[in-house]
Amino acid sequence: MAKRVGILTAGGDAPGLNAVIRGFGKTAIWHYGMELIGFLDGIRGLVYDRHTDLSGAALSGILTQGGTILGTSRDKVHKFAVDGETVDMTQTVVDNYERNKLDALVMLGGGGTAKNARRLTEAGLNVISLPKTIDNDIVGTDTTFGFATAMEIATDAIDRLHSTAHSHHRIILAELMGHRAGWLTLGAGIAGGADIILIPEIPYTVESIVATIKARMDRGSSFSVIAVAEGARDTRDTADYQAAQLLVASASTPEAKRAARVHLANVEDAQREHTFKLARELEAATGLESRVTILGYVQRGGTPCSADRLLATRLGAAAADLVEQGEFGVLVAVRGDATAPVPLSEVAGKIKFVPADHEWVATARKVGTGLGA
Ligand code: F6P
Repeated sequence: MAKRVGILTAGGDAPGLNAVIRGFGKTAIWHYGMELIGFLDGIRGLVYDRHTDLSGAALSGILTQGGTILGTSRDKVHKFAVDGETVDMTQTVVDNYERNKLDALVMLGGGGTAKNARRLTEAGLNVISLPKTIDNDIVGTDTTFGFATAMEIATDAIDRLHSTAHSHHRIILAELMGHRAGWLTLGAGIAGGADIILIPEIPYTVESIVATIKARMDRGSSFSVIAVAEGARDTRDTADYQAAQLLVASASTPEAKRAARVHLANVEDAQREHTFKLARELEAATGLESRVTILGYVQRGGTPCSADRLLATRLGAAAADLVEQGEFGVLVAVRGDATAPVPLSEVAGKIKFVPADHEWVATARKVGTGLGA
């Protein structure tokens, strides 16, 4: 009896999603004789049982396509929005999994999806998750698909921003994605030769940044290019943000947790324009014009780079192997030149931050890059 497998994409889109769907689908269908259905728009498709048959034809021509042919969403299984309320839809998902006579469910997503995958595993479903995000902030895996392409895009942008910086003797601040971890900003900042790189893991001071810019001016460089992670903060904002996070974590009642979450959201909103605020502070302190470019969703768009296509195809094929072998409750992780299953319990709910002593941090400092502290 052919195994029937469901697949879905969840969380923020990322380059390589369709390449994984193709790699998994071709291996599952052609190599193992399985049947494959794709659930639409992430968890929402599982809840409402919206799916499409993914036969060989549906997998043709999608290797190079950005985004996801299945659509995505950021829904949570246990906190699903229905008419303004949040409802636990775990049992509905289990029922739809059984109604479709599935033998396994493959979920392509980031940290949030790993939590959904763990929850459905605990509900008794056979689940495998694959590491997708441009942030590269999933623990247990050397890297994630989408990260290499986003780094290519961001590096090209930083390269191009050098033109206006040196032509106009300006400070150019490029804000990159990465609201929790700074891997993308650090990697693209080094690759793009940014003079200063600011990441969430290293709270900055304006004074330190000004000192780097002025030292460059003293050496005859009348411009600076700064790569700023959207989650980077100065030391004061970092203290406020961490205090707000602690309030949420330490709230002892549901009401207190709700109030703490509202406060945290207000702090995040108040800090959202930090790159523009920093630009004004640097212009005042150095006398150099400052301009901001927000790279935003450009970093997630378009065709995946070759490295991501290769990684995505490998991960998809490896996931099909695990379905065939009956190994579930795992993330298909990248480990050196190989892939390996890692228990979801070791991944879900955790974030891979840039360690202060990471080689990339040391490398940036050695080549004279300012890190804001
Ligand atoms: O998690 C990946 C990511 O691109 C982050 O870098 C970014 O902050 C976030 O998604 C944006 O989320 P959304 O697509 O929901 O606006």
